[in-house]
Amino acid sequence: MASERVSGLKLGSQGLVVSAQGLGCMSMSGSGFFGPPKPEPDMINLIRHAIDSGVTFLDTSDFYGFNTNEILIGKTLKDGYREKAQIATKFGYRPIDGKVEVCGDPAYVRSACEASLKRLDIDCIDLYYAHRIDTSIPIEITMGELKKLVEEGKVKYIGLSEACASTIRRAHTVHPITAVQNEWSLWTRDLEDEIIPTCRELGIGIVSYSPIGKGFLAQGPKLLENLPEIDVRKRMPRLTNHVEHNKIIFEQVNEMATRKGCTAAQLALAWVHHQGTDVVPIPGTTKLENLHQNIGALSINLTPEEIAKLESFAFDVIVKGERHVSMQRTWIYSETPPLSSWEGN
Ligand code: ATR
Repeated sequence: MASERVSGLKLGSQGLVVSAQGLGCMSMSGSGFFGPPKPEPDMINLIRHAIDSGVTFLDTSDFYGFNTNEILIGKTLKDGYREKAQIATKFGYRPIDGKVEVCGDPAYVRSACEASLKRLDIDCIDLYYAHRIDTSIPIEITMGELKKLVEEGKVKYIGLSEACASTIRRAHTVHPITAVQNEWSLWTRDLEDEIIPTCRELGIGIVSYSPIGKGFLAQGPKLLENLPEIDVRKRMPRLTNHVEHNKIIFEQVNEMATRKGCTAAQLALAWVHHQGTDVVPIPGTTKLENLHQNIGALSINLTPEEIAKLESFAFDVIVKGERHVSMQRTWIYSETPPLSSWEGN
């Protein structure tokens, strides 16, 4: 089933076609994300290799490496690579006085988009997401500006990241949403109750970030052995305080992978690929061998019994610890004020 989907996948019902697996580029540009920035020539080579191998859907943000990830993607897209790739980027995290806030103010949305276009050195962003939802402004107001950017040809399709069902619904009334990007993996499934059915009802595609548990479902506790202090995973409760408990899930996935003749990363990814033809995982990697492995996950077929077995691991053990650092709590699945509270402002 999964192997038939390597090439074009319709993401959402608005016309965007992407590769069945994308490439998360965040960890290529530190600092404060996953480790330090990686050497630029190596990353350009890796991304181009991904595109040449059919992984054409690139995921970045103005926040990753504080603009530097978009600059990296911009350089990668030279020499004919722009035409072969679909570029998804995001706005919303605004650095202010050494901290960050989330901003969906129309003037900010416009300036962020124009700055991203410059850094990426492209005419139009294929998919432009609100990276997090600004809880101080009705989502309709943010969407109004995004709609104008589409009309002006600066953006082709609109997405939301970590939005709750009611925000998705409200946003969709202003302009069709093409994709929702949320964390979705074997051990993060809270979106399945409301968000996934809402997306399916509205014809919105689903992009799964951290599909291999930020590396933990691929490597288990070994992942945490040599992480530098600046790596944000050092401060994520699920990956710090509760490793002894949570490692059982990895061990079970890994055991099943060995029996099936694949790797734990591939099995975790294959599970996401089997969630539907409207779902695209975007595993992040900075290594060619891992990229190849991840592409290999598209050829793994899982039986309904194997899917149920995999799901039982996290279900029986019950994952402990939040998936994000505490700062993020405000911006995940958050509601925005009603439009009526804004009108007349
Ligand atoms: P995110 O979406 O947040 O980037 P993810 O895709 O679930 O999270 O996991 C990314 C992490 O998994 C990275 O640390 C990556 O490490 P490398 O850059 O060293 O590859 C790791 N990872 C990705 N693919 C992997 C694989 N096939 N085997 C082992 N680790 C892998």
